[in-house]
Amino acid sequence: MNLSVQLAPKHQPGLLLANPVMTASGTFGYGTEYSHLFDIQRLGAIVCKGTTLKPREGNPQPRLAETASGLLNSIGLQNIGVKALIKEKAPLWTSWRVPVIVNIAGETADDYAQLATQLDRVDGVSAIEVNVSCPNVKAGGAEFGANPKSAAKVTTAVKAATSLPVLVKLTPNTSNIAEVAIAVAEAGADAISLINTLKGMTIDIAKRRPLLGNVSGGLSGPAIRPVALYMVYEVAGAVDVPVVGCGGITTTSDAIEFIMAGASAIQVGTASFTNPRAPLDILEGIEQFIEKEAIDNLTDLIGAARG
Ligand SMILES: Cc1cc2nc3c(=O)[nH]c(=O)nc-3n(C[C@H](O)[C@H](O)[C@H](O)COP(=O)(O)O)c2cc1C
Repeated sequence: MNLSVQLAPKHQPGLLLANPVMTASGTFGYGTEYSHLFDIQRLGAIVCKGTTLKPREGNPQPRLAETASGLLNSIGLQNIGVKALIKEKAPLWTSWRVPVIVNIAGETADDYAQLATQLDRVDGVSAIEVNVSCPNVKAGGAEFGANPKSAAKVTTAVKAATSLPVLVKLTPNTSNIAEVAIAVAEAGADAISLINTLKGMTIDIAKRRPLLGNVSGGLSGPAIRPVALYMVYEVAGAVDVPVVGCGGITTTSDAIEFIMAGASAIQVGTASFTNPRAPLDILEGIEQFIEKEAIDNLTDLIGAARG
């Protein structure tokens, strides 16, 4: 059986994954944290924690709250910064079979371009995933990805700064995600991943105050899965670049739903917090499904539920 997928068909040399199971940024550290728990080399790709130009401490505590079927987080992009990532993490990845994709975040289009420039040609880095769910500081704080123009501007800046394949990761916090997807595809995105977390909050009624130190946070986990699935369905119908589905994927059948909706690959996020082996369990489940259904190529399943 052939589970491989080409995530960047318009790029030379492309981004060929051995299988469609990836990890979602911010839920799998730098990969190293999980390597003693299972053979992470078997995965399709690892997406590392969101990386910024300077190291960040993140938001005030508390930063996590459980909700019905979901998780609210306001980590605030705590990370070691791009210089430390290049010096300390990338050298570890050079010997890995599994490609590592670096997720980047910035406050201006120029921040993203500088990150892409620094990551270009770094051994161990196979691609860049652009997180556009960040406040656009120059435009008054709305997320870059809330608006097709600002999302496209970031995409153009990153593409001009690197020869690596570029995935753009969309936010669901926008009125028309397909329009944003079309704009970033036209700006040169090699693939589009979606969705990031949905904005939400919770209140501590004893203290009469928002529970999260940052007031609001991002909702993830099974609670967002039907929203994510529909957005993947919409976006896959609107663009001609590969789509990577993410949002509440916990089981093999969840993953297959996203693939049937049109995703070429999937990312496992919050599920890894309750079951660190979830990405591998899902991969093994996909292998069994393909065998049972006598499918030769995983690509035959992509978009199978579309009319
Ligand atoms: C604790 C936590 C940290 C996250 N950090 C990032 C990040 O740094 N960059 C990013 O693009 N997405 C980040 N995300 C979003 C996830 O990658 C994913 O898009 C989202 O959680 C939905 O998938 P899930 O429901 O499977 O977790 C984070 C999510 C969580 C729960």
